[in-house]
Amino acid sequence: MKILVLHGPNLNLLGQRETSIYGSATLSSISETLDGIAGDLGVSLTHFQSNHEGELVDKVQAAHGAFHGILVNPAAYTHTSIALRDAFGAVEIPFVEVHLSNIHAREEFRQKSLLADLAVGSVVGFGPSSYFLGLKALVGALS
Ligand code: DQA
Repeated sequence: MKILVLHGPNLNLLGQRETSIYGSATLSSISETLDGIAGDLGVSLTHFQSNHEGELVDKVQAAHGAFHGILVNPAAYTHTSIALRDAFGAVEIPFVEVHLSNIHAREEFRQKSLLADLAVGSVVGFGPSSYFLGLKALVGALS
């Protein structure tokens, strides 16, 4: 089973960015742990991070026929991107949305996700464990 792991803008700065909110783990350490979990689950991961909305849209479009599921932290585009929402709607690939922070307990503009109703489910507020739980849940849903 092939899973695409997508990270939106500014997540390349994890570990140095607003550590009181997002913690000290880097994106590469999260990816390494995800690869270990994927190995245990017998699935393969492809990781991609971009600060550019169109690049993320391109990746979701290209995932059609190439991946069974997508694990995504859309970061700020969660709250703004109709284009990314439409891409997920178009490819109809099951996806799980994850956030390190609990977006529902933060500023009002973060409390709305434009993707959440299309997702299989969402995991928010557990730091890096949101990704780990999200991957297990996605693989479980696809199996
Ligand atoms: C985030 C939450 C978003 O609101 C924010 O723009 C991010 C990170 C999270 O993982 O908690 O960049 O997606």
